[in-house]
Amino acid sequence: MCGIIAYIGNKPVMPILIQGLQRLEYRGYDSAGIALVEEGELTIIKTKGSVDSLSDLLRESKHQAVYGIGHTRWATHGVPSDTNAHPHASCDNKLTLVHNGIIENYKELREQLISEGHKFISETDTEIVVHTIEKYYQGNLEEAVIKGIQDLQGAYALALISAQEEKIVLVRKQSPLIIGVGEGECYAASDIPALLPYTKKVVILEEGDIAILRKDNFQVINSEGKEKRVEVIETTWDAHLAEKSGYPHFMLKEIYEQPTVLKDTLRERVSEDQLLLDEADLGDLIPNLRKVYFGACGTAYHATLVGKLYLETLCDLEAETEVASEFRYRDVPWVKPAVGIIVSQSGETADTLGVLSRLKELSYPVIGITNVIGSSVSRESDRTIYTRAGPEISVASTKAYTSQMLVLLLLALSWSKKRNKLNYEKERYYIKELKELPFKAQQVLDKSELFLEIARELKEVKHLFYLGRLQDYYTALEGALKMKEISYLHAEAYAGGELKHGPLALIENNTPVIAFLSNKSIAPKMLSNFEEVRSRGGKIYLFTTLDIKESSFRIVKLPDSDMLVSPILNGLVLQLLAYYTARECGASIDKPRNLAKSVTVE
Ligand code: M6R
Repeated sequence: MCGIIAYIGNKPVMPILIQGLQRLEYRGYDSAGIALVEEGELTIIKTKGSVDSLSDLLRESKHQAVYGIGHTRWATHGVPSDTNAHPHASCDNKLTLVHNGIIENYKELREQLISEGHKFISETDTEIVVHTIEKYYQGNLEEAVIKGIQDLQGAYALALISAQEEKIVLVRKQSPLIIGVGEGECYAASDIPALLPYTKKVVILEEGDIAILRKDNFQVINSEGKEKRVEVIETTWDAHLAEKSGYPHFMLKEIYEQPTVLKDTLRERVSEDQLLLDEADLGDLIPNLRKVYFGACGTAYHATLVGKLYLETLCDLEAETEVASEFRYRDVPWVKPAVGIIVSQSGETADTLGVLSRLKELSYPVIGITNVIGSSVSRESDRTIYTRAGPEISVASTKAYTSQMLVLLLLALSWSKKRNKLNYEKERYYIKELKELPFKAQQVLDKSELFLEIARELKEVKHLFYLGRLQDYYTALEGALKMKEISYLHAEAYAGGELKHGPLALIENNTPVIAFLSNKSIAPKMLSNFEEVRSRGGKIYLFTTLDIKESSFRIVKLPDSDMLVSPILNGLVLQLLAYYTARECGASIDKPRNLAKSVTVE
């Protein structure tokens, strides 16, 4: 949901802003802009379209400014246009800012500001922020910010500059913002990967923090202007992790990273004869636990469906999961003792954070499973388990999804032990399965030619179905989401037994049905469901760990694996299928239309 970048130092700021925006483009890509100050003059250059369009505009530019701010937008208020693009400026063109978030009371503020003589040119909620700060500005930007933000309701990460002061002011409320600390220079960005080419030293701003960046130093204050001590942390992520490294798309690179990611996620958590997930150790609570409440959206929600199955199967523990945007507003019988588990790649998804705060209000302990160190989920949860997937740049989540399921499996296994449901033999069995997982993931990737072949057939259709039962149904849901998201084909997922209750009406000659089957016990039922499809002309593509002989289906045999491990391997299958189909359809894979990576608004 919009990307922010800022720099102050001795280097020309323009290329830094443009490269930073290119790295942040997955957060929004309908318009982009920068603002810089040179010899007391503020210049704003912005345009509808991608960061490349902005870069083209700047090709002839001679600006040598050494500080400035930039923005790439995912429109909420106001269509994508040059005027609605950020940065937005004050009436006197001396102040400007970029914003990620939504100002909820913008209508009232706008009317108020108009009555006070302010003139608005855009349809955005953001423009009222700069006018509000202008109203309080008397030569000191942070002082004006402290006053101005008192008037704002909503979510905002802001980066502001003034033509009269050589500094950048940042504010964080419910939208992420990171400071990058260099030698004689400071950076700011919406996330860590944007900063990796310049510095690994970062400060993750907390709720309500205001930061003042200068060339040689930075300072963080609270909303009363009192200085705060902050920790500079050194990220372990490398710059190359946020680069395509020869792959045509980030998505493909991230799919191919999965054997390594799975290995990293298992590191120090699975030894020769022991499963250890210290981060999930809630002591005496676990044996007596009655329920788990999950909170997640999109792909992460699909991971929690699998997580629920793990807890039920391995721990005999009831679990509830529903998309966070619904769950946060529902009243359910709240059971105790229970634990919340929040799953989010970015750790910044607004609805997911909504569930987290609700669970905290109800005094439940919360475990956060996230990929981003210092994210809101990690800060607000009582315990954090990191997925160790490395930066995920493609909007379509891939390696984060499989590593979330793996962490959930590790958690369920470790709780199963605590609840005396996992004997020595069973533990050894799962250790073996887990250790083999990265190799099996590689075996799936090695079949990429097959996926490409199927994708060439799929690209010809407009609608397709995904089918599965139990854990394979959850795979089907994620498969359909991934296909819709990046290839724009209409895909629907159904539980095998549900087709005949309605959707079968849509099956006609050659309608593709992508099916997953990794559970022997329900194989006969699934095979009957396939017959229902086939006798209406539907075409079955079956991805299975079982030995199924059936000449009328297209069957792809997957590596043998335990039923509980199979959703992780199936993750790679559905991702490759979606990727190659999108590529065959000529779609914009890493930046699908209308979407953004990190959804920080409701
Ligand atoms: O960062 P999060 O895991 O909280 O994101 C949740 C969803 O927005 C995300 O998984 C989304 O569904 C992906 N684009 C799907 O590929």
